[in-house]
Amino acid sequence: MSLKTFNVVDLFCGCGGLSTGFSKANFRILGGVDNEDTFLETFSKNHRGAFAANIDLSKENFLNELKREIKNQEVDVLLGGPPCQGFSLTGPRKFNDPRNSLYLAMFQTVEFFRPQLFIIENVTGLKNMWGGQILEEIVEKFQRELGYKVDWKILNSADYGVPQLRKRVFIVGVNNTIKSKFVFPQITHEENSYVTCMDAISDLPSLEKELGDEVDTYKFKKQSNYQKLMNNGCKDLFNHVATRHSEHVKKVISQVPEGGNHKDLPPGVGDSRKFNEAWTRYHSKKPSKTIDTGHRNHFHYKWNRVPTIRENARLQSFPDSFRFYGTRTKQNIQVGNAVPPLMAERIALEVKKVLNAD
Ligand SMILES: C[S@@+](CC[C@H](N)C(=O)[O-])C[C@H]1O[C@@H](n2cnc3c(N)ncnc32)[C@H](O)[C@@H]1O
Repeated sequence: MSLKTFNVVDLFCGCGGLSTGFSKANFRILGGVDNEDTFLETFSKNHRGAFAANIDLSKENFLNELKREIKNQEVDVLLGGPPCQGFSLTGPRKFNDPRNSLYLAMFQTVEFFRPQLFIIENVTGLKNMWGGQILEEIVEKFQRELGYKVDWKILNSADYGVPQLRKRVFIVGVNNTIKSKFVFPQITHEENSYVTCMDAISDLPSLEKELGDEVDTYKFKKQSNYQKLMNNGCKDLFNHVATRHSEHVKKVISQVPEGGNHKDLPPGVGDSRKFNEAWTRYHSKKPSKTIDTGHRNHFHYKWNRVPTIRENARLQSFPDSFRFYGTRTKQNIQVGNAVPPLMAERIALEVKKVLNAD
């Protein structure tokens, strides 16, 4: 039961996957910050009324710019998925190293605004960096210096009804003025009931013939529950444009069975790509592999092409009404970087329980 609308600020917001989930759970998105204009355009057009600020969060004076955007509004929840490349070079106990300034931006924002709760999302590699000492240091710093109660967990999006295997680490900190404990969301889907690629995208036009218009109308009436949930009455089909592959690529991928990869090709075929996930074809009856920022090695389970932006967006659980802007390369980055909104929504509902209980 919702008693109050809570304000959210999203740092390193990208197109706003995290924000979309929180918005669905009826949080109010005050704004997002990124240093990429295209991503901010997408964020802004899909989060009307929220600010979308281009601020370099590695700069020493970023907080002044952020304060100007937030004005005197209260920040109840701070979200952020900062890149963490600095830590792998500098090792633990080096939080203040400039290369780690992006984590520091989260820390300083929490320190200034004192949100009731913060969430940091990151790749699972963070857990093993320097034998786990980096993650431990992040947790300890927020606990020791700001008095937040901090917990973390690796979540797999498929366990929450997203048709994609995607594991990410979530660090959640609760202000010590709050009595209730944050509990990570219960799994809603077991492996034998995972939402599949076919459930997710079978209704979308194949684009075998019609390479044409970016905005089309739906031609398929039969929809799975997941498709209904994602479509939710949206009449227009955005970002559904096929990549034009060479005859060579089409010929090679046509020989890969569903769920297969380069290892399933006959000798001498597709030798140009041999690495781990090369020539991977999704399986129609399984969730997809982790959607990435566009390395173009994952193919549609049925058609001899890579998935369109819309198909990847569906596999990431973006609603059909969510439109991506910028070049196709930039759109791929936005989709691949995002936290699946459906998973974010599940987390947001647990956050709400904590905030409402107080
Ligand atoms: C993993 S993505 C975040 C995805 C987002 N949480 C979502 O759910 O859609 C990280 C973002 O950090 C942004 N970024 C990287 N360095 C930055 C900086 N110095 N200042 C602000 N944003 C930065 C990138 O442009 C990228 O959009």
